Amino acid sequence: MTTTTATRMLWRGLCIIVPLLFVSVNCQPLDKSAGDGNLKNKGIAENIVSAETNYKGKWELFSPNSGVSAMHLILLPKTNNSLMFDSTIFKTSRLKFPDPHCQNVVIPNGPVEEHCFAHSVLMDFETAKVKPLKFKYDTWCSSGALDVKGRLVSTGGSDKGSDTVRILDKCDDCQWKEYPGTLGNGRWYSTQVTLGDGRFMVFGGRDFPTYEFVPSEGHRNSKNQVIDFKFLRETRDRVENNLYPFVNLHTDGNLFIFANNRSVLLNPKTNLIVHEFPVLPNGARSYPASGCSCMLPITLHPDEKRPVIPAEILVCGGAAHDAFTLTDLNRPKVFPPVTKDCGLIDISEMQKANWKILQMPSPRILGDAMVLPTGDVLLVNGAKSGSAGWDDARDPNMVPVLYNVASYNFKELNPSTIPRMYHSTSAVLPDGKILIAGSNTNDGYLDVALFPTETRVEKFSPHYFDPALDPFRTEILYEKAKRLNYGKPFKVRVRGGDQNLDMKKLQVNIYNPPFTTHGISMNQRMIRLGIYEVKKDGAEKDVSVISLQAPLNGNIAPPGYYMLFVVYNGVPCRRAMWVNVNK
Ligand SMILES: *[C@@H]1O[C@H](CO)[C@@H](O)[C@H](O)[C@H]1NC(C)=O
Ligand SMILES: *[C@@H]1O[C@H](CO)[C@@H](O)[C@H](O)[C@H]1NC(C)=O
Repeated sequence: MTTTTATRMLWRGLCIIVPLLFVSVNCQPLDKSAGDGNLKNKGIAENIVSAETNYKGKWELFSPNSGVSAMHLILLPKTNNSLMFDSTIFKTSRLKFPDPHCQNVVIPNGPVEEHCFAHSVLMDFETAKVKPLKFKYDTWCSSGALDVKGRLVSTGGSDKGSDTVRILDKCDDCQWKEYPGTLGNGRWYSTQVTLGDGRFMVFGGRDFPTYEFVPSEGHRNSKNQVIDFKFLRETRDRVENNLYPFVNLHTDGNLFIFANNRSVLLNPKTNLIVHEFPVLPNGARSYPASGCSCMLPITLHPDEKRPVIPAEILVCGGAAHDAFTLTDLNRPKVFPPVTKDCGLIDISEMQKANWKILQMPSPRILGDAMVLPTGDVLLVNGAKSGSAGWDDARDPNMVPVLYNVASYNFKELNPSTIPRMYHSTSAVLPDGKILIAGSNTNDGYLDVALFPTETRVEKFSPHYFDPALDPFRTEILYEKAKRLNYGKPFKVRVRGGDQNLDMKKLQVNIYNPPFTTHGISMNQRMIRLGIYEVKKDGAEKDVSVISLQAPLNGNIAPPGYYMLFVVYNGVPCRRAMWVNVNK
């Protein structure tokens, strides 16, 4: 029986069974293409059976005040902490350090300045408790990623922060450690990417069409450790449109780099461009045109033999090349409508690879493309006209859109009531909800403005929180944080889901918490693991044991912390388990 036949049969089965559970199912085969005969989702979404629902999601106000507006957002592993920070330029925020503490901040053209308001906080994403953290060097429009130990390594920023590397460990009372003068070039609006061996590179930034490796803690880069990058020189428009390039590690160890409307594969060992992909037409996608992008889940089979594992990139929204000219440089400002399409490309096809153009239900810039625990994508936050920049966008797009990777369909979910414009962020939580924070389109903390500085934090519960799907929600039986060794088999025990877990409805996905800012979620990566078998636990009748294989190597899953989600029939488990992937 072919895969397609099996999938169809399963769907037919589901179409009979699921309505009995009062769940509405979209009864179409999964290989249905979006009106384009060439659309065939190979390798990425094969064999996934999930009960679709008409549940449109739910918003909740999680915190009335995060203190600091979350221009940058990341989860720290193993704790329940989300880290939010913006910039020292505002001098203020909505959270004061407890008396008599203040922080010394290095300012442009001057020595230090005392700021008694915090610019960074840890927010417990379960209790909403907030803790202010101090730093000295400006983090404005910086980059970051988790290292193999689960510490945040933050790079760049503005002014004297631009060549700074900072480290925040994941313990509850850890403080920022700052290393100014570490980078060879200033990195303002740059992108940090993790390689298969766990090292970081930073790409671009204002005025620097270059890249460099991030030196290990305590070391510094000299100017000659900076590598000139013609591609970033070439993709710069008069108003840039190539900052915060979208950079993803391909499964073969090369880096996929997208800037403005062009993309290449770069070999980080030889510094050679291995391939250039076709141009993605219809405007610019990178800052300040600020579309959003993600790599789709990488699907593995047990004992993988394929020489290159397929990897697909989605790039959505953006703006016309001259949008920033019209909004930021023009008086009066003009706010042109933004881009409504997405480009999807399988980068493993190399010479044959080309963009498939998909239409979103609405145009979007300044949004986030978050990979959900199910492997589908949530497009959320942002606006429908203008560009990135202070007061440069209008028409908030408050409707989150679910992109189904198997069917190529987009679906609008329930809208929020809070505009999330420039400098807004999102994060996928271990319970499958999405943390939504930030939005500050003002040069300061403004209470009264067209779009006031936002410090309210919301949680969005996507479609799979449909109460009717509750019977499919499994519970991972925790062990102490698990270590996965490349290529090695391991087991996960789960309770619930069904009496007998059907392998065809089962996915086990690991997800690297990304560093999100300005519509880019750096190092966001989901790997759908190869499953050997599912067995009943002999002793407990509602417990199943899933046998899996850890990813084969670091190019598929760079070493470090991931959330492991068991997804059954399209419904994520109650809470992900942290795993550490390594040699
Ligand atoms: C995180 O939150 C969960 C759910 O409330 C709780 O069970 C767990 O103990 C918390 N973990 C830590 C490290 O605080
Ligand atoms: C790509 O962007 C450049 C500007 O950087 C523009 O001149 C060119 O026309 C664009 N190409 C397409 C196909 O849209």
